[in-house]
Amino acid sequence: MNLLLYGAPGSGKGTQANMLRSHFGIPHIATGDMLRAEIQAGTELGRKAQPILAAGQYVSDGIMIDIVRSRLSRPDCAPGFIMDGFPRTVPQAEALDDLMAELGKRFDRVIYLQVPVDDLLHRLSGRLVCPACQRTYPPATAACEADGSTLVQREDDKPEAVRPRIEIYLDKTVPVLDHYRGGGLVSEIDGRGTIEEISRQVLAAVNGKIPVKKQTA
Ligand code: AP5
Ligand code: MG
Repeated sequence: MNLLLYGAPGSGKGTQANMLRSHFGIPHIATGDMLRAEIQAGTELGRKAQPILAAGQYVSDGIMIDIVRSRLSRPDCAPGFIMDGFPRTVPQAEALDDLMAELGKRFDRVIYLQVPVDDLLHRLSGRLVCPACQRTYPPATAACEADGSTLVQREDDKPEAVRPRIEIYLDKTVPVLDHYRGGGLVSEIDGRGTIEEISRQVLAAVNGKIPVKKQTA
């Protein structure tokens, strides 16, 4: 089961990926989490990426494609995976097509979580994250459910980075959706209900109960 979660910053990709990971027992590949782990570890890539993430901009396509190539080639992806945060540009989507073909894989479903910009701004300004395992939580959550860590605000959820993140998403990432719509793989979900309601719809879509869209809405 190879799944791709698509949506704006704050649309709930990480939240639903956690549910899917527990449900199907397949890895969650989140390029933002991978970059933050590099930053935390102080690697050369982390030092390069830190100011880019803090400003809400995108890391170069070449770097991101290399990261995903090496991650998807690992054996734990053999039974399936949940991709979150990649591809974010049309060149990344084209490179992923080539990589999937090379590895003999294909996506079973692209889940598009559709959330209006006002809701995104509200969610991102209140989001808390676990600095140890990167799970995300709504405002006023006391501690990480998985490891008890004290939750923190993500650097790019500060107001000065949130607008640029949404602007670059609209400019560079919205065209990626059409790339997948052509293949009839996209299930579009209104991402505004409760987390549990959205999870039910995501599972229904994965099980083929939500029709796919071929045209731009
Ligand atoms: P990344 O980490 O991927 O960030 P993002 O795409 O901006 O998405 P978020 O993680 O902010 O949101 P989400 O959709 O996961 O929402 P969440 O579930 O947390 O990337 C970070 C940065 O890395 C990028 O800006 C870029 O610099 C770089 N990068 C990464 N990949 C790259 C690539 N491919 N190319 C170039 N650069 C790349 O939910 C948000 C909040 O809402 C939480 O508080 C959650 O509890 C809450 N929530 C979730 N669902 C609901 C609901 N149904 N109702 C109410 N609240 C909800
Ligand atoms: Mg996320």
